[in-house]
Amino acid sequence: MSRLRRGRQQGLPNLTDKDWLYGGDPEAIKATLIGGRNGVMPPMGAALGEQGTKDVAHYVMSLSGMANDSLRTAKGKELFAQNCAACHGADGKATCSSVRPT
Ligand code: HEC
Repeated sequence: MSRLRRGRQQGLPNLTDKDWLYGGDPEAIKATLIGGRNGVMPPMGAALGEQGTKDVAHYVMSLSGMANDSLRTAKGKELFAQNCAACHGADGKATCSSVRPT
C-alpha cells in the first residue's frame, strides 16, 4: 500500500477545508457522492436521488466557502444531517478515524 493511500485511509477528510482528496469542483463532489470513494466513502447516489445529490453537493461547497445556491444548500443541510453526519460530523469537520467503517 502506498504511503499516500495509507495516509488517506487513516481518517475522514475534513470537508470544511480546501484540501480535497478528490477535487473540490462541483463535478468532483458530485462524483464522490454518487459513486463513493475508495471503498470507505459509501456511494450515496441511490439514497439521495439526483436532486438530493445536487443539494448536498451545494451544502458541501458551502462548508468550504465556495459559491453555492442558498436554496439547495438549505435542503442539502438536512440531507447531510440524515445521511452524512454520522461519519463526517454535523459540521463536516469530523476527522476521527474511529468512525470509519471496518
Ligand atoms: C460510512 C461513513 C461515511 C458516510 C455515511 C459518508 N461519508 Fe463521505 N467520506 C467518508 C470517508 C471515510 C471518506 C474518505 C475516503 C477516502 O479516504 O478515500 C469520505 C470522503 C468524502 C468526500 C471527499 C472529500 C475530499 O477531500 O475529496 C466528500 C465530499 C464526502 N465524503 C461527502 C459526503 C457526503 C455529502 C455524505 C452524505 C451524503 C457522506 N460523505 C457520507 C465516510 C463517509
